[in-house]
Amino acid sequence: MRIRIENSKKSTSLLCGFVLENSTTVLGLGKFDAKTSSIINQSVKDMGGKLGKLSVIPFSGKNSIQRILLAGLGEKRNMTKDTIRAVSGKIAQKARELKLKEFSIIAPPSFVEDAISSVSQIVEGSKMGLYKFDNFKSEKLENSLDLTIIVSKSNKISMAIKNAEIIANGVIFTKSIANLPPNECTPTTLANFAKIISRNNKLKCKVISEPELKKRGFGGISAVGQGSKNKPKLIILEYNNGSKNEKPIVLVGKAVTFDTGGISLKPGEKMDEMKFDKCGGCTVLGIMKVVSELKLPINVVGIVPSVENMPGSESYRPGDIIKLHSGKTAEILNTDAEGRLILADALSYGEKSYSPKAIIDFATLTGACIVALGTNVAGMVSNDEKLTKMIYDSSNRTTEEIWGLPLNQDYMDMIKSEVADMKNVGIGKAAGTITAAAFLRNAIQNTPWIHLDIAGVAWTQTGTKEKSYNPKGATGFGVRLILDYLQNL
Ligand code: BES
Ligand code: ZN
Ligand code: ZN
Repeated sequence: MRIRIENSKKSTSLLCGFVLENSTTVLGLGKFDAKTSSIINQSVKDMGGKLGKLSVIPFSGKNSIQRILLAGLGEKRNMTKDTIRAVSGKIAQKARELKLKEFSIIAPPSFVEDAISSVSQIVEGSKMGLYKFDNFKSEKLENSLDLTIIVSKSNKISMAIKNAEIIANGVIFTKSIANLPPNECTPTTLANFAKIISRNNKLKCKVISEPELKKRGFGGISAVGQGSKNKPKLIILEYNNGSKNEKPIVLVGKAVTFDTGGISLKPGEKMDEMKFDKCGGCTVLGIMKVVSELKLPINVVGIVPSVENMPGSESYRPGDIIKLHSGKTAEILNTDAEGRLILADALSYGEKSYSPKAIIDFATLTGACIVALGTNVAGMVSNDEKLTKMIYDSSNRTTEEIWGLPLNQDYMDMIKSEVADMKNVGIGKAAGTITAAAFLRNAIQNTPWIHLDIAGVAWTQTGTKEKSYNPKGATGFGVRLILDYLQNL
């Protein structure tokens, strides 16, 4: 999709304008002759500006505008920082349905939403709305659709559009690798994706494999990975564009390319969805790609421990005691609680190797998070109030929703083991998301840290709120959230 900006409407196959609920005007549309105006006014009245409602008015004759599309924003007071994004996704899908080659969207005036936010949402919504995972379909959707945004031109607007395009491409990249089936995406495949991003974007990429993983003390990654012929990888991407002695931000993402549960085998129902257990890692790869394409003046490191969790004669077992990279030992009581083991290794490696300013991890870590918060809000656990506040601010600006859960000594005590330093499960089903976070907390010292449990939000599942720009499959949750944080450091 090529994106252009124009100060005013010219010829187009589809001119799209937003309409607020119960308003009689199309925002920013400008003047037409009397007959055309009366048709438009009647259509505005008929569709009523209801949120998400679209209404196409065909134009006849020699008009340079072939159709007008009215797009409802709902009531002004109910608008969020996501409304224009979501409606723009619908508009783009409509344009594709009409088999057009291009369409135009009039950015709403600033009393509805500030121009930078408007154009960013229009770009993100349109681009993300057109993405569909069709790698394995013989019949592909048409994908060459250009967009003109009608808004008063300025450098700031052009930059915002460029920025939003790169971010949307990053989210699409994350979705497109997260959606890959487990037979087509192993830890090695993810490592290869990381290498490709690094080559294109001036990142340094290191991949640690067996036997080096074991030799260097990555006992968690080695244990979980040993049951699969698809061997584990620890993927590291370094981006250095800040000042030399500035400490980096470290991002860690769980990438279990398939989670069967291992010897503690999961039930069969919906087990296919465990191909999405790599979403945290895919989010980190997407963020690193965007950070480098935006050339942000900071230092960031992405660390992605990747394994396949399989049952077999080589698998780790309940009862095993392993030694993590932190030096602490863990008693395995359930091989399905594998995410915390590979993350613990990656977190302590990240802290020891980079002395980071902050560590943020992303993981489809616990089913308990879905029980606690559902499928539209990610769980958050942190040891640092300032960092928490910054991530909440980013969440408000991007509408990627998160909610904090507590972590005090009582929870830390719940993972004490009789025979090792820790056990990899808590007490029964109690506070499952927090006891998993408590395990991670043990991997680091006092670096400001945020853990995001994205089990409920990383892909569309039962209860997921419909959003035009999140069609069925992976959502790329976290990419927009953390880019906002990194851009506001
Ligand atoms: N990948 C799963 C968590 C998960 C389950 C995410 C369902 C999304 C949907 C994780 O590895 C897991 O299986 N966790 C266990 C932990 C338990 C054994 C302590 C869980 O949540 O049941
Ligand atoms: Zn598991
Ligand atoms: Zn898992």
